[in-house]
Amino acid sequence: MIEVRGLVKRFEGRAVSRNAVDGIDLDVPEGKLVTLLGPSGCGKTTTLRLIAGLERPDAGRISIGGKLVCAPGEGVYVGVHHRPIGVVFQSYAVWPHMTAIENVMFPLRSGQKRLPRAEARRRAMEALDMVGLADLADRPAPALSGGQQQRISLARALTREPEVLLLDEPLSNLDAGLRDRVRDEIRGVQQRLGITTVFVTHDQDEALAVSDEVIVMDRGRIVERGAAQEIYAWPREEFTARFMGISNSLPGTVLSRDANTVEIDLVQGRLSCLPTGKLSEGSSVNVFLRPESLVLSRKDPSGRGWKGTVEFSIYHGDCWDYHVRVGDTLLRSRMYREKIGLAHGDPVYVVPEEATAIAIPVNTDGDASGAGASLSGATAKGAGDIG
Ligand SMILES: Nc1ncnc2c1ncn2[C@@H]1O[C@H](COP(=O)(O)OP(=O)(O)O)[C@@H](O)[C@H]1O
Ligand SMILES: [Mg+2]
Repeated sequence: MIEVRGLVKRFEGRAVSRNAVDGIDLDVPEGKLVTLLGPSGCGKTTTLRLIAGLERPDAGRISIGGKLVCAPGEGVYVGVHHRPIGVVFQSYAVWPHMTAIENVMFPLRSGQKRLPRAEARRRAMEALDMVGLADLADRPAPALSGGQQQRISLARALTREPEVLLLDEPLSNLDAGLRDRVRDEIRGVQQRLGITTVFVTHDQDEALAVSDEVIVMDRGRIVERGAAQEIYAWPREEFTARFMGISNSLPGTVLSRDANTVEIDLVQGRLSCLPTGKLSEGSSVNVFLRPESLVLSRKDPSGRGWKGTVEFSIYHGDCWDYHVRVGDTLLRSRMYREKIGLAHGDPVYVVPEEATAIAIPVNTDGDASGAGASLSGATAKGAGDIG
């Protein structure tokens, strides 16, 4: 398991005065895969490099498998080669003048703990087998596809039987089709070996697919963390809701709340929502609605529909996205099965599904990006959430 406390990293001479990593606490439980998810520049790679020992922090403590590997305050620093880790980067870092197996054997045949050739070959073969490449062991590296090269990197990271696997955007350089296969391979190996893993990505779908737990980051800090299903279906912070692609948001006011739902007064009408944070009667919220939670209908038998007009539609193969104007607001609705066949200018009712909308308190500190006020709440809530 990995334990990180109060991690801070500052790069000198940067135009932006913010810390690249600004006080991160995280735990990765034994055998679990935890993802760091966030936009470019939010500090994911720096956090991973600090855990790996490729970067020295300004403050904080890092333990791996119960052993303190880094604590600047106490003068503790274990170098990268002495940490029980395997690392895979975005670029494959496969040596072109070697075969697949030579690439995987390389770390076993170098450094202080050099293994005899036969033993190194046997271990490398095992690792290749784990990633489904045993058949291609003697193929020259340049004759392997991008996905195969990335699996070689993974095999190489696993040969020393590390306690912890650190993966930095390992799928980003792969074509869309391959990406899913290598993703599944990584998750498969991780679960079979039960290896404690930190996975870095900026891609929401990828994070949901592979993670036991997702940690959402913004500007060097943790915004929110939770199980993948929780981050998807019930984000507690506006930053997370927007980053997870919940594209519809409507301003409203709290009418009443109980333990499981909150009644919101919208311009469009009343709506039962999932509550987050402190919501008292009369307080302002933004209501977030997934496109698939807005059902379109030509008639409105339930009487709950919002009357609107179709602006345009986009076809995705397995679904249609309709952009519908309701009053002053443009809403996006995603329809999977129904061939409703609506065209520009058609009148339509938008019927919001019950109990899927999320009411999030309005950020009142004037921070336009929506992350500022949420952060303090997330940090306070975060510490007890994990493990
Ligand atoms: N070696 C470096 N020198 C100066 N600034 C850096 C360095 N590495 C990263 N940064 C800065 O630190 C911040 C976080 O970067 P990074 O951890 O790479 O983000 P991410 O991986 O989430 O895209 C960014 O503002 C980036 O410009
Ligand atoms: Mg990065």
